[in-house]
Amino acid sequence: MPHNAVSPSSPATRTGATRSTTFDWLDEQHRLRREAGLVRTLRPRPEPGAGEPAVLDLAGNDYLGLSRHPEVTRAAADAAHRWGAGSTGSRLVSGSTALHTRLEEALAEFCGFEAALVFSSGYAANLAAVTALAPPPELSGARGLLVSDEGNHASLIDGCRLARAGRAVVPHADPEAAGKALAAHPGRGLVVTDSVFSVDGDAAPLAALARQCRRHGAGLLVDDAHGLGVLGDGGRGAVHAAGLAGAPDVVSTVTLSKSLGAQGGVVLGPARVIAHLVSSARTFIFDTGLAPAAAAAALAALEVLRREPGRAARVRAVAGDLHARLTGAGLTAVRPDAAVVSVRAPSPRAAVRWQADCRAAGIEVGCFRPPSVPDGVSRLRLTARADLTDAQVERAAGTVVGTAAAEGFLNSRRAPG
Ligand SMILES: Cc1ncc(COP(=O)(O)O)c(C=O)c1O
Repeated sequence: MPHNAVSPSSPATRTGATRSTTFDWLDEQHRLRREAGLVRTLRPRPEPGAGEPAVLDLAGNDYLGLSRHPEVTRAAADAAHRWGAGSTGSRLVSGSTALHTRLEEALAEFCGFEAALVFSSGYAANLAAVTALAPPPELSGARGLLVSDEGNHASLIDGCRLARAGRAVVPHADPEAAGKALAAHPGRGLVVTDSVFSVDGDAAPLAALARQCRRHGAGLLVDDAHGLGVLGDGGRGAVHAAGLAGAPDVVSTVTLSKSLGAQGGVVLGPARVIAHLVSSARTFIFDTGLAPAAAAAALAALEVLRREPGRAARVRAVAGDLHARLTGAGLTAVRPDAAVVSVRAPSPRAAVRWQADCRAAGIEVGCFRPPSVPDGVSRLRLTARADLTDAQVERAAGTVVGTAAAEGFLNSRRAPG
């Protein structure tokens, strides 16, 4: 038995009563987090009731308002009745259904790629794509190089950490820096980037990155989590909008949990890349397949998006309107390239207080603090939704501005926390 372990039948395991010193370091860590204003707490959403919710949600990622669309929820319920609540196993054992295949075909066709592979989450899809697409040293004679934007999502960062490849973290949205890093690794590089960065909501220079990749024989992997449903023709995503969808050297990942209102993740790319992932990606092989209800919900949501492409344009208009109202009132916010509107807060503590003030006034907004932000600058994060009315947008912006004024944050970039 390992040091400090308790036997399964000991009183400590049964009652949890015996005090152990094993995890005492957690208390110190908690104290440090508390002092820095970085403790995170869970806050269950209020039960949905009839009529307009008491709190207006600008924190979630339901960009197109599809998570509660009747066609989407009905498709999920029907799939659960037909196939069961879970997928029952890995996609390679019992966890693949006709729904998964249909979703893969529909998404590949919609986004303009040859093939697609569905995972249980966008996180798992990113881990798979990054780890499986760095060329292995035993084949290429030397390690491959992953070139990663410093503002990338945690799932891409973790993929780089897990991969058996070298890593170069390059300055944000800097194709020249990516090119310099690739130059020393001709034919063995993979550039990894968000299409729209989740913290600031700005877009990556995809066309310029693709040019650098082609110059050095590198692949380009784009996480289009925030682009699908929002950018490009009818919401086909940022990769499609950049004219890169379906290219033999470009792979994209998307999540089903944002604009499609469901859950799960997808890798899109050339058929040989998808076949390689099926046989090698650990988060595909050793993970239970996506629940049939989530696959059916995403398929139904995609159908709504095809039928109502104006939803994508509406999200962008709402984001632009929010930004104009906030900056017009003196707040510092990044110009949104998609649905995310990021507003600077004076400090982590101030961000938490500001978020609580907004909630008390009936507006739920997100709050990003270190370590979720690469530059250490805390922010409120508002997400635009296609189903917000103009009056709701006005109320949300007015609340964010009013609470900032009451706290003394207006025009003070760094106030005491
Ligand atoms: C840019 C980006 N990539 C990947 C993910 C992970 O997707 P999922 O929530 O489906 O695991 C997220 C979601 O938070 C994201 O913002």
